[in-house]
Parts: sequence; structure tokens; C-alpha cells
Amino acid sequence: MPTPPVSPGTALGRTLFAPISASLRPAILCLSALVATAGASFAGDTSDLVARGRYLATAADCAACHTAPHGGTPFAGGYGIDTPLGKIFSTNITPSKEGGIGRYSEEEFARAVREGVAKDGSHLYPAMPYTAYAKITDDDMKALYAYFMNEVKPDDHKPQKTELPFPFSIRTSMAAWNLLFLDKTRFTPDPAKSAEWNRGAYLADALEHCSTCHTPRNAFMAEDASQLFAGSAVGSWYAPNITSDKVAGIGGWSDDELIRYLKTGNVVGKAQAAGPMAEAVENSLQYLPDDDLKAIVTYLKDVPAIGSGDAPSRADLGKPSTVVEASLRGLPGQAPDENGYHIFSGSCAACHQPEGQGNDHYPSLFHNTATGEDRADNLVSTILYGLHRKVSDHVAFMPAFGPDASYTDRLSNKEIADVSNYVLANYGNAAVKVTEADVARIRDGGEKPLIVKLAPLAAPAAIVAAVIVLALIAWFASRRRRSRPALG
Ligand code: HEC
Ligand code: HEC
Ligand code: HEC
Repeated sequence: MPTPPVSPGTALGRTLFAPISASLRPAILCLSALVATAGASFAGDTSDLVARGRYLATAADCAACHTAPHGGTPFAGGYGIDTPLGKIFSTNITPSKEGGIGRYSEEEFARAVREGVAKDGSHLYPAMPYTAYAKITDDDMKALYAYFMNEVKPDDHKPQKTELPFPFSIRTSMAAWNLLFLDKTRFTPDPAKSAEWNRGAYLADALEHCSTCHTPRNAFMAEDASQLFAGSAVGSWYAPNITSDKVAGIGGWSDDELIRYLKTGNVVGKAQAAGPMAEAVENSLQYLPDDDLKAIVTYLKDVPAIGSGDAPSRADLGKPSTVVEASLRGLPGQAPDENGYHIFSGSCAACHQPEGQGNDHYPSLFHNTATGEDRADNLVSTILYGLHRKVSDHVAFMPAFGPDASYTDRLSNKEIADVSNYVLANYGNAAVKVTEADVARIRDGGEKPLIVKLAPLAAPAAIVAAVIVLALIAWFASRRRRSRPALG
């Protein structure tokens, strides 16, 4: 059925209003505004528009990046996002005229959010996910602007400025990158798919920007659209394959399990959300009405499967290791992989239990995608950085054993490699091995893409590249003028 993502009075509108718990009522109000006002330009009063903008800002997770950690003022900026290029600091997007975006017109706001160009004309780095937000509809952009200008409290805070090393410090280079990689097409519903599917696609691709983490990037750090959701490194973490493949992806998960994962970050006997996924659940996904999550899952399950094989599903790997634990107890010095065992016993077993089986409060380490994955990034990162995820009133917490750990808890790279290998061999994907160097790389923010490795060669190369880029820009510009005269 050909239905735009937010058109009034459709089956979509109705499915959005199935019974939902009281805690979600504010979100529903926003949704009713969303459905009631879509299509034509906005006709209701400002409070409806603002409410709809609030819902959209939550679904797009603006606060996650634009709020400093440990109690920063919402939207006042200062969160340092680790990227392979260096730390990129988010800006203040409260309506303060001094520190924030109080002087932005609606057009300037839309240009920043969808095209990555600030009011002063300077280019933003794609750490601001404008490549996804480019798909946000005009009506939704209007609502977002109304929300930020009318409801967000102005704050004059001036967050730390981003200073990347040369040549990444040249923001104009992003103009060339945008020409090559920014698709400015707004979301267009697929008439061959259901209204629910289209709603899910809009939520996942335009607002929640799932692909910015889960889709692999090419050598220029642009998403590879042919590999949608096939899995990608996100700094020290790995955003796994979430295509419909039954083994490598989430094809084997039930709809209910996926909805529960997005809403709470925990599916017993399958997976827990840590790192950047914990942030997405905590700041955004937990607040979406169940029907929105169901729509995302409907879309997700229809994404073409990538990567398959005969291996057992990642989530099903491993078993409790009774033999090892029993044979090791009281027999120091005779154990295979003794080191890893002692660290496991001292640092992990109190929560995850001596046989790795977990209990009502702590997850089992087998039947767990973090240990069943064909790479150990999320296992190592969870040990290094711990886990903190607040959903409703429940906090899931695992202490860090890396740089932020207290002196007595801190583990070295060697110790983390040893305990990881112990966990993998006994509970997870025994084919995966972790070296000290792997832990060092993950501690240092993960694998660097080619473009960063080549940076030292940049000074001479940049001159050559600049000439090529200028030629490309001229060529694109002339082509665009010729092919789309109506757009001027
Ligand atoms: C994944 C992190 C992330 C998310 C999510 C995000 N932003 Fe940003 N945003 C950034 C960063 C980082 C910058 C600064 C980029 C730079 O300096 O090049 C930025 C810059 C901006 C700017 C330019 C501000 C200025 O000072 O000129 C605006 C406006 C903006 N974001 C609005 C939004 C809105 C609205 C949302 C939600 C719809 C959002 N952002 C979501 C990371 C994010
Ligand atoms: C900021 C980056 C980021 C964003 C945005 C993001 N994810 Fe994730 N996602 C991750 C990471 C990292 C993990 C691994 C977490 C872990 O195992 O602790 C993950 C895990 C998952 C998993 C579990 C997979 C498994 O095998 O355990 C699912 C399902 C998932 N994400 C779906 C989504 C969907 C759907 C969206 C958009 C609505 C989304 N993610 C947005 C980074 C992200
Ligand atoms: C104080 C209790 C505690 C200790 C000690 C602890 N964990 Fe955890 N662990 C947790 C909790 C809580 C979770 C997440 C549960 C949730 O998400 O609901 C978790 C999650 C995990 C996960 C899944 C992470 C993901 O990204 O999916 C792994 C793997 C893990 N722990 C391994 C370890 C290892 C290895 C050690 C020892 C070095 C350890 N844990 C020590 C409590 C603990």
C-alpha cells in the first residue's frame, strides 16, 4: 500500500495507537500530532508542533551526543566523540544566542541537520549524522526546529572546540566528501511495502540512524550502501551484522526478542547492549512506543541477508564449563590456560558464576553474542570499559577493568587477553583468539581506517588531492546544472 511515513488517517495512523502503557503517553501525544499534521504544511497550534518535535528529537537521539557526560546540561554540547580522526566535540544546540543555535533561522537549522553546514557556512564532520538526517521530511524538520527554539532551555555554555590534526582540520574538504557521498534525497515511501515497513524504514534510516554504526564504511569513511547493516567497527566496539541472515545476523531472533532488545537492551540467553548500543537504548529506543519498535523490527527483518554459512548461530554458541571449573578447583599449577582461569575466578565469576551460567541478575557468558561473535571486540571492550545502561528505573552495571577501574581492579592488556581467551575457549567461539596487541588496539580506540593511516603522507598528497577534488567539484557542478535545470 503506497503510504507516506506520516500521512493522516491511514492504517499506519491506527496501528500507532494500539494500547500502550501510561509511561508512554507523552510520546503518544507527540505521535498523534505527528499523524494528525502530516502531509500538508502544519495547521495545528504550536504546542502540537513542539510535542511532535520533542518526539522526533528523542527518536533521532539528539541528546545522546549533544549532552556532556556525567550530568551535563541537556543539549549544551561538549561530548567528545572518539573518531579515528581524533576527538570531535559536539556543539551547544540550545537556543542560546551566545553559546548555542539561538541565531539559527529554520532554513539554517535544516541545512545544518540535513547537509552538515553550520550557520557560518563551515562544514560539520559527519560525526554529526547528517547523512541519515538528510532523509528527514520537511514537516518533521519544522517540528524539530519548533521544539528546539520553544522548549529547550537556552544555556550559554561554550563547549570545547574540535581540533583535529592536519589534514582533517580543513573543514572545506568535507564539501568534496559531501559531493561524493551525501545523498540529499528525502525519505520516499516504497509503495510495494506495507505502511508499517515504511514507518520502520523511516525511523531506522532517517531518525535512529542505525546504519551509521551497523553499516561498514569504505576507505573514505562513507557508508557502503551495498552492505547495509552488515556490521562495522564503532571505535573500540563492534556493531554486529543485523541483516536478516539467520547465522551472521538477526534472522534467527523472534520479533519479540528484537523488540525487547531495542526497548531494554537485554534478551536473556542472547545478548546485552553495552557501549554505543547501550546509549542508543538508554537515550532513545526505550522511549519509543512498542508499535514504533515493531515497525523497526518489521523493516529490519526484511533487510537482505548478508554473510552466511553452516556455523551455528552466534547467539547459540557455548555451554557451561563444569569440567574445567571442577578440575581446576584446588589444583593450582596443573590447569591449562591457568592464568585466564584465575582472572576469571577472581574478577568475573562472582557475578557471571563459576560455570559462566549467570543467574537472575547477571547474564550467562554462553548463548551470548558478545562471546559467540567471530571477533572479540565487544567482549574485550566490556571488560575494558564495563557496562552501564539505565532503562526505566533499572540500572544494568558491570564494573570496568580498564583505565577507569580502581587500582586494585585494573587488568593489564595481557590479563585481559588471557581472561578473554579463557571465556572464549570455555563459553564462546573457541575459534577466536585474543592477543595482547588486540587489546592494545581496542584500548586505543580500534582499527584506524586507511584514510587515517595515510594522514602522515597528507602534506604532499593533499596538494595533488586538492587539484583532483577541485576538478571533480567543477565536473559535478556542471553535470548537476545540466541534468537538473529546474532546481537552479
Ligand atoms: C552521533 C552524534 C550526534 C547526534 C546523534 C546528533 N548530533 Fe548534532 N552534532 C554532532 C557533532 C559532533 C557536531 C559538531 C560537528 C563539528 O564540529 O563538525 C554537531 C553539530 C550540530 C549542529 C551545528 C551546531 C553549531 O554550533 O553550529 C546542529 C544544529 C546539530 N548538530 C543539531 C542536531 C540535531 C537537531 C540532532 C538530532 C536530530 C543532532 N544534532 C544529533 C553530533 C551529533
Ligand atoms: C551509536 C552506534 C549504534 C547505533 C546508532 C545503533 N547501534 Fe545497534 N549496536 C551497536 C553496537 C556497538 C552493538 C553491540 C553491543 C553489545 O554487544 O554490547 C549493537 C548491537 C545491536 C544489536 C544486537 C546484535 C547482536 O548480535 O548482539 C541489535 C539487534 C541492534 N544493535 C540493532 C540496532 C538498531 C535496529 C538500531 C537503530 C534503531 C541500532 N542498533 C542503532 C551500535 C549501534
Ligand atoms: C559486578 C558484577 C559483574 C562482574 C564482576 C563482571 N560482570 Fe560482566 N556483566 C555484568 C552485568 C550486569 C552485565 C550486563 C547485564 C545486562 O545488560 O543486563 C554484564 C555483561 C557482560 C558481557 C556481555 C557484554 C555485551 O556487550 O554483550 C560480557 C561478555 C561480560 N559481562 C563479561 C565479563 C567478564 C569477562 C568479566 C570479568 C573480567 C565480567 N564480565 C565481570 C556484571 C558483571
